[in-house]
Amino acid sequence: MTPLQENILFLKTIEKRLDSGGVLSPQAEAEDLVRHFGRIGRVDFFAGEKTLRRSAKKKIDWALRTRLKGTPLSYILKERSFSGLDFFISPDVLIPRPETEVLLEEALKILNTYYKCHPRARQIDGPTVFLAGAGMTANGPEILEIGTGSGCIAVSLTCERPDCRMTALDISSAALRIARKNLYLHGLQKKIRLVKSDLFGAFYLRRKESWDVIVSNPPYVPEEDIPGLPREVRKEPRLALDGGHEGTRVIDSILEQAPGFLKEGGWLLMEIGAGQSEVLRENILRNKKYKNLSFIKDATGINRVLRVQKE
Ligand SMILES: C[S@@+](CC[C@H](N)C(=O)[O-])C[C@H]1O[C@@H](n2cnc3c(N)ncnc32)[C@H](O)[C@@H]1O
Repeated sequence: MTPLQENILFLKTIEKRLDSGGVLSPQAEAEDLVRHFGRIGRVDFFAGEKTLRRSAKKKIDWALRTRLKGTPLSYILKERSFSGLDFFISPDVLIPRPETEVLLEEALKILNTYYKCHPRARQIDGPTVFLAGAGMTANGPEILEIGTGSGCIAVSLTCERPDCRMTALDISSAALRIARKNLYLHGLQKKIRLVKSDLFGAFYLRRKESWDVIVSNPPYVPEEDIPGLPREVRKEPRLALDGGHEGTRVIDSILEQAPGFLKEGGWLLMEIGAGQSEVLRENILRNKKYKNLSFIKDATGINRVLRVQKE
């Protein structure tokens, strides 16, 4: 058997085992396992330039058995890509989802429309200098992320807008440890402030702080739906998923408290679940704390991001 045939046969065997175990994308996951544990580039593997060592095959076999017991691939590989960046992932944090990129894009649109960065600010290394001008902020915008988990939103926003002053909070110390690793991974440990807090709790105690933009992907799965979630999803932290009755408990609390922590005209952006937009629209219109309400759809046509401005 040639090295190429050996590689293809090995890959197909893994793919088949994943497929018969009910994994939805067996081909992609088989390739990911080989790439990750085999430490062979795709080109070398598919050209038959290199074959897998016996130790790599053993690791892949272990990973495969773990995967077939329902552990999500990202927890096995300990990594996940989000918005083109790599993140360290553990079972202490939610695995970043593609739909959350809609939230990120919308936050960037708001920042780039209402809080423009002076073009020169991006070119200056070290302590960045910001210049005030028409429609430009003298200092970068102040942003708060609620429920940062892996830190994927805070890191991605800061990479796109290095002028922003970012605070990212989470109620989970274990999640904050992972977020900190990701700040180091991206060299942002001095740029992003991590705070352990139950929503705005830590900021009621300290001096009153206020933000230009608050962004959050809160837990929003209705608690009654959790037992019926796929077994992979049930391996993710309950704290990251469980949004209480009808899934809007945390969303409602953020909507209630955020006006006290937003600057005048500041924006709140939140990811929400399928079917939640209409009840949220009624609440928001009724309590008159916000203006300019809109919902942004994800790729499947679901209202995925709620966007409002403080009155
Ligand atoms: C859906 S996950 C989002 C994680 C990450 N931002 C992302 O988009 O992948 C929600 C996060 O909110 C955190 N969380 C849940 N309840 C919270 C609360 N009351 N205060 C602060 N964070 C909370 C969870 O620990 C979890 O990390």
